[in-house]
Amino acid sequence: MKIICPICKQELIRKDKSYICENGHCFDIAKEGYLNLNCKNSQNTGDEKDMINARRDFLSKGYYNFLRETVDSLIDEGDSLLDLACGEGYYTSYFKAKDKIGVDLSKTGLKIAAKKDKSTLYLLNNIFNNPLNDKSLDKIVTIFAPIAKQEIKRLLKDNGKYILVKPNVNHLFELKKAVYDNPYQNEIEDTEIEGLKLEKEINVKDHALLNNEDINNLFKMTPYYHTTSQKDKDKLSNINELDVNFDFLIDVFSLYNE
Ligand SMILES: C[S@@+](CC[C@H](N)C(=O)[O-])C[C@H]1O[C@@H](n2cnc3c(N)ncnc32)[C@H](O)[C@@H]1O
Repeated sequence: MKIICPICKQELIRKDKSYICENGHCFDIAKEGYLNLNCKNSQNTGDEKDMINARRDFLSKGYYNFLRETVDSLIDEGDSLLDLACGEGYYTSYFKAKDKIGVDLSKTGLKIAAKKDKSTLYLLNNIFNNPLNDKSLDKIVTIFAPIAKQEIKRLLKDNGKYILVKPNVNHLFELKKAVYDNPYQNEIEDTEIEGLKLEKEINVKDHALLNNEDINNLFKMTPYYHTTSQKDKDKLSNINELDVNFDFLIDVFSLYNE
């Protein structure tokens, strides 16, 4: 896949430890191996270190392996693939596509990803403005992250597929029960993306008995971690075991072909 200069839109070519375009715009490859295309004064710096480390530790135990295996079964070996908001590459690194790019704004995440996985080009970049040509991808993936709708439509080849992973109703309900007085189930809304049609929706589930460390790491991975009071968070420190449900929806979209 060609990487395009974010300044002048010419192709970036790798030269030693940089990518350079014909107009001399130059972007460095970090020592861990990811390419830094982010503008220096960007406000958004992605997930923080403690969230990334919690996610890395939790995922390394294999609890979500069933999910990444199912997503991988929707991907072909010959595919060009873009993982939008790839975090530390737990899913990206596993996918069998031959040509893979992972994008995220978290340096901590990309350091882990790029050090471990040499089969993917990791880009420090905003998912809403990707340095890639129109219609250049067979598969685009979003897993628990914001949906860059315009970019997905722009980047997919005519016969390409967009794969979206999101939590289903019962996902982590036991964890919420342990923290909140009035826990709620996740509300699931149909994801609508103009120009794309939903081809199928797959529900995958599992559960696991988690120890205290896993429970706390898992809670840090959730979007409500930052909005929960310390008093509620502290309830988790006394729980040594919890059987938790994992419940996901995998949506597969294709472009409407006029
Ligand atoms: C919940 S994490 C999911 C990471 C990965 N997909 C996974 O499931 O392990 C969300 C990720 O989105 C990234 N992110 C959020 N907004 C972003 C943006 N505008 N551009 C790039 N990455 C972004 C964060 O840094 C974080 O790594």
